[in-house]
Amino acid sequence: MKILTICGSLRRESYNQMLLSSLSQYAPKDWVFKQSISIGELPHYNEDIDTATPPSSVDQFRKEIEEADALYWAMPEFNHSIPGVLKNALDWATHPLNEAALLGRVIAVSVVTQGRGGYRGMSDLSRVLRDLGNFVVPAPELCIQFAHEHISPEENGQVSITDPVTEKLLKIQLQNLEYAVRHRMGHHAGMCWKNFFENMATL
Ligand SMILES: Cc1cc2nc3c(=O)[nH]c(=O)nc-3n(C[C@H](O)[C@H](O)[C@H](O)COP(=O)(O)O)c2cc1C
Repeated sequence: MKILTICGSLRRESYNQMLLSSLSQYAPKDWVFKQSISIGELPHYNEDIDTATPPSSVDQFRKEIEEADALYWAMPEFNHSIPGVLKNALDWATHPLNEAALLGRVIAVSVVTQGRGGYRGMSDLSRVLRDLGNFVVPAPELCIQFAHEHISPEENGQVSITDPVTEKLLKIQLQNLEYAVRHRMGHHAGMCWKNFFENMATL
């Protein structure tokens, strides 16, 4: 399993990034986790530059998505929804529509916040990804509130999650991610869009 991790925060000491760095502790040893290009390197989405030769950061981001078996997105909630910088990355990954990198993928989503929110952001991100023809692991929902109390960086560079319930949920979520890849649930989720695009192309 090749998992691409995508972080919705650009902050140097991001708790979302810490969660992503901890994932390999909860997965089988032979899984390979790769961190995507920083989404801060993507320009603001603009159809004028979304041509056959898009900016190199966009090209790289799309290729990284295509080469992965599954994606793991972790983001903070900003103003009760998806952070703008992540929505921008999502917009790049869903074009051009008929050959979008972000179509027919298997995705796990987590929200990590230092506050007491998170579920509205998670609901928005999951809905958008799902509506666009991806399979989003529906359970367990992983929304880590008061992250500073549950996630901490260690001196050796490792990250420790101090809440056993969160650890258990992470393990189950990754098991479900693997099940969804094995059963090609991303392919099935993308079928209707692919059929739609193919038929529209011959209209
Ligand atoms: C502009 C902005 C809006 C925010 N809105 C919310 C929010 O709606 N709900 C919430 O729980 N936390 C909110 N927060 C707090 C972030 O979730 C918190 O700072 C989080 O730790 C950032 O993620 P990171 O640690 O990965 O950088 C907001 C923070 C900022 C900067």
